[in-house]
Amino acid sequence: GKARHFKWEVEYMHWSPDGEEGVVMGINGQFPGPTIRARAGDTIHVELTNRLHTEGVVIHWHGIRQIGTPWADGTASISQCAINPGETFLYRFKVDKAGTYFYHGHYGMQRSAGLYGSLIVDVAEGEKEIFQYDGEFNILLSDWWHKGSHEQEVDLSSNPMRWIGEPQTLLINGRGQFNCSLAAHVSNSSASPCKLRGNEQYAPHILRVHPNKTYRLRIASTTALASLNLAIGNHKMLVVEADGNNLQPFSVDNMDIYSGESYSVLFTTNQDPSKNYWISISVRGREPRTPQGLTILNYHPNSASKLPPSPPPIAPRWDDYEYSKSFTNKILALKGSPTPPPTHHRRIFLLNTQNFIDGHTKWAINNVSLVLPATPYLGSIKYGLNAAFNRKSPPDRFRPDYDVMRPAANQNSTYGSGVYMLRFNTTVDVILQNANALRANVSEIHPWHLHGHDFWVLGYGEGKFTEKEEAKFNLKNPPLRNTAVIFPFGWTALRFVADNPGVWAFHCHIEPHLHMGMGVVFAEGVRRLGKIPNEALGCGLTGKMLMNNLHN
Ligand code: C2O
Ligand code: CU
Repeated sequence: GKARHFKWEVEYMHWSPDGEEGVVMGINGQFPGPTIRARAGDTIHVELTNRLHTEGVVIHWHGIRQIGTPWADGTASISQCAINPGETFLYRFKVDKAGTYFYHGHYGMQRSAGLYGSLIVDVAEGEKEIFQYDGEFNILLSDWWHKGSHEQEVDLSSNPMRWIGEPQTLLINGRGQFNCSLAAHVSNSSASPCKLRGNEQYAPHILRVHPNKTYRLRIASTTALASLNLAIGNHKMLVVEADGNNLQPFSVDNMDIYSGESYSVLFTTNQDPSKNYWISISVRGREPRTPQGLTILNYHPNSASKLPPSPPPIAPRWDDYEYSKSFTNKILALKGSPTPPPTHHRRIFLLNTQNFIDGHTKWAINNVSLVLPATPYLGSIKYGLNAAFNRKSPPDRFRPDYDVMRPAANQNSTYGSGVYMLRFNTTVDVILQNANALRANVSEIHPWHLHGHDFWVLGYGEGKFTEKEEAKFNLKNPPLRNTAVIFPFGWTALRFVADNPGVWAFHCHIEPHLHMGMGVVFAEGVRRLGKIPNEALGCGLTGKMLMNNLHN
């Protein structure tokens, strides 16, 4: 593989992602950040300089397993110290597997602030893609609020909590329209039509195609909150990749995508070539208060400003969970993909609840709401700095009599920074158990994302998981993924092998939920690691340790 070098500077800048000017986190003056394109086997070097004036920063490479380089995972308090203003950190890691990935901030709520971009890995030099296509596009989906991420953070942490509400705008490659609608001419809403010249920061990213060709559309979602449904008007999509893993291809009219997920679909431009078509994204799983995000599939040689003559695709009803489940159940591994070990060594049950701690609304896992320590776990575990975090491991199960269908009898929870220590090379099952939130009859969607690994998704079910359900696990062709959703009042079963030395976050990818404690930390094989680069350790107790080493 090749070495690919990048020099990036992160800064706040004025930007109009949706036509209203606000402040975003940009990289080298761009929003979203630059797209990284590499080949499997390449080594990426990103020299990241923090040009923010008053806060730290880190960048996480979502979906890259960081085999042998856990200090490059870019998680503040977990894999490294946040990079201070004016400082530079070198992210050096191998992209070992082709696929559609992205990167984003992983400190505070910097992902909500717009710190993200795409990371595309092509097959290794000399290898062939297993799917055939004539061209490709890449879209990164996000959601945007007019209130800044710092104010959102204060709102979420206050007592009583002030919820951030629904996003103002959905963005496709960082572009959306708040003040106007591309579809004004075909909708009966009062929205004014967009008068765009095409060079505005919020002008849509147009997909230009030729008739009768097949294209690959890469899609990743880094939304802070929204679950989305994507459609290309009049065109079918063949889903072929999820989170960097090949799928048994299946055809759909529209597809769901949750925060943290990525897909590739193939579509053929076999429709009336005298027209252009909509590409739309719509909110799922929460009552939508955000207009559809739109862009145009532009058939050559039509003008890109020729708008489709009919309204954008209609999304399935936001609360039609059966629809979402039927899509999710179609996702299976391509024949010949790695299959899971037939049995597990350890099974961890994780109950997802909404709670109060001293009047503050929190999310908790087995009644522990995650707070991150001042010293990153990777260094504190490696060097045995026992005072750095809660030494007691969080529980592997929750009370068997817990009623997941009702608000908790005791709504109080506790903070914790404990770690699930996994024996190296063992097979771990995780049963994510959803439950009723604080309000009766409410249970939300949570897309869970694991760092450092892909996992097999063995199955989904309704209500409380019982050992009997194990008979229904799919051990034959379960998809390998790094993100899997739990549906309201349901459970999701995952399996992975703890074979990647490091400390890995496992959390809900909804940014406010993570911020309110919805995550756990896994550690495995840390003592096998060689030297951790000093620049990942210069804070907290590992920072003190480095100072002492200097003085001795
Ligand atoms: Cu994309 Cu820990 O997240
Ligand atoms: Cu969540």
